[in-house]
Amino acid sequence: MAAEYKIAPADASAGEKLLTWVDNRFPASKLFKEHMSEYYAPKNFNFWYIFGSLALLVLVIQIVTGIFLVMHYKPDAAIAFASVEYIMRDVPWGWLIRYMHSTGASAFFVVVYLHMFRGLLYGSYRNPRELVWIFGCAIFLCLMAEAFMGYLLPWGQMSYWGAQVIVNLFAAVPFVGPDLALLIRGDFVVGDATLNRFFSFHVIAVPLVLLGLVVAHIIALHEVGSNNPDGVEIKGPKAPKDAAGHPLDGVPFHPYYSVHDILGVCLFLIVFCSVLFFAPELGGYFLEYNNFIPADSMKTPPHIAPVWYFTPFYSMLRATTDDLVKVLCVIIGLAAVASFLKLKASTMVRGAILGGAVVAIALLLTFDAKFWGVVVMGGAVVILFFLPWLDRSPAKSIRYRPSWHMSLYLVFVVFFLVLGYLGIQPPSFWGTLVAQVGTLFYFGFFLLMPWWSQLGTFKQVPDRVTFHPH
Ligand code: HEM
Repeated sequence: MAAEYKIAPADASAGEKLLTWVDNRFPASKLFKEHMSEYYAPKNFNFWYIFGSLALLVLVIQIVTGIFLVMHYKPDAAIAFASVEYIMRDVPWGWLIRYMHSTGASAFFVVVYLHMFRGLLYGSYRNPRELVWIFGCAIFLCLMAEAFMGYLLPWGQMSYWGAQVIVNLFAAVPFVGPDLALLIRGDFVVGDATLNRFFSFHVIAVPLVLLGLVVAHIIALHEVGSNNPDGVEIKGPKAPKDAAGHPLDGVPFHPYYSVHDILGVCLFLIVFCSVLFFAPELGGYFLEYNNFIPADSMKTPPHIAPVWYFTPFYSMLRATTDDLVKVLCVIIGLAAVASFLKLKASTMVRGAILGGAVVAIALLLTFDAKFWGVVVMGGAVVILFFLPWLDRSPAKSIRYRPSWHMSLYLVFVVFFLVLGYLGIQPPSFWGTLVAQVGTLFYFGFFLLMPWWSQLGTFKQVPDRVTFHPH
């Protein structure tokens, strides 16, 4: 049904008349109301709720600076490196644009990791927000692809050799691997063809998908409403509402949170600008020193490491050695025997579990560890998609879970950071061992979640959100 035609009062200002004219042709006011001034958000948001808006801000920074970079960058293996140097030295303000973009890439991951951790803390991925989470996970995958392909563009030593290592991983996929790697590179080695296709994906294909996913993420969120630190629904059938049907525990996003977010944006910009102006390379973590040397296919750097945001996953890849595969076989075997003996299910079900384990062990031993490393690295991201169905805890928010759940989350974070650190370091015996323990913990955390998330004494979840006016 067409929306009602509006007529501006005779004494309306020019602005109001223009808005009425637009509203009769495009739902500008309606959209603003739905998503801002009449979008009721829980009134107990804490600082963890700033990172969604910050992710949006960084997205805008990346797109705007990216547009200006493309004006001067040349995606040609012969001159790509020189064109970046030209941007840094000769293009007016080029250094600022380039450093904003490179710092923005790392800032994006800092913000998104914190944003995801908030979701984990407060169970924001659970019913009814499964799709919000799934769109988020797809965004995370896109972001990784975007960063990986962007990193090749400066055509420095790390760009070149990093891409070489990662694309070669695809060659480990059984049967189709070598052809797949060839398809990605467009050549037998990383070269001009690779640079051209990565450029095309980095500047248009992936950003388009990313933008679409971000829109879907926010539409899905606004359909069901935001979660909050108590994990209590403010819009559900039982939630208290005022005469107009607005949740009593909610406040309009605009102006309450739009103004609130300005504080977060200012704090973020202080940190962002400090790095940007005083330490844009951040000791080689944001821009690796080896990448200031032009790509040379004849000189392999002694130590190739991806940028910090990939290193937890890269560590898991390196940790997947023949020994770890054997340990996995033993774990699967023991778990299958234990469930065969202990599970109260029919003999057929228990037999199927045992049979499944035998097949899994046979597969593990058939393909080499390099392939399983790729599976582990990919699986570490893919497993996040299933989180809404892995968590069976009676309470959404960490606030009402047994306190040891918090300790488990802390151990998870520590392992994730340690894995990240180890991924930057050259491989060593102890490093690999710790990374193997970290990898097992990471997967154990998620795969055993249906079991451990129900254990312990839970606190009473309140009916209403806890809010102390300040
Ligand atoms: C470009 C990246 C992203 C942008 C721009 C973005 C944006 C937002 C915004 C604006 C919100 C509402 C404000 C807030 O709750 O903080 C939000 C909520 C949410 N996001 Fe994202 N997001 C991004 C990535 C992700 C990722 C990678 C995940 C998880 C894998 C994720 C999961 C969630 C969840 C579960 C919520 C609901 C939180 C709640 O209601 O408690 N987001 N996002």
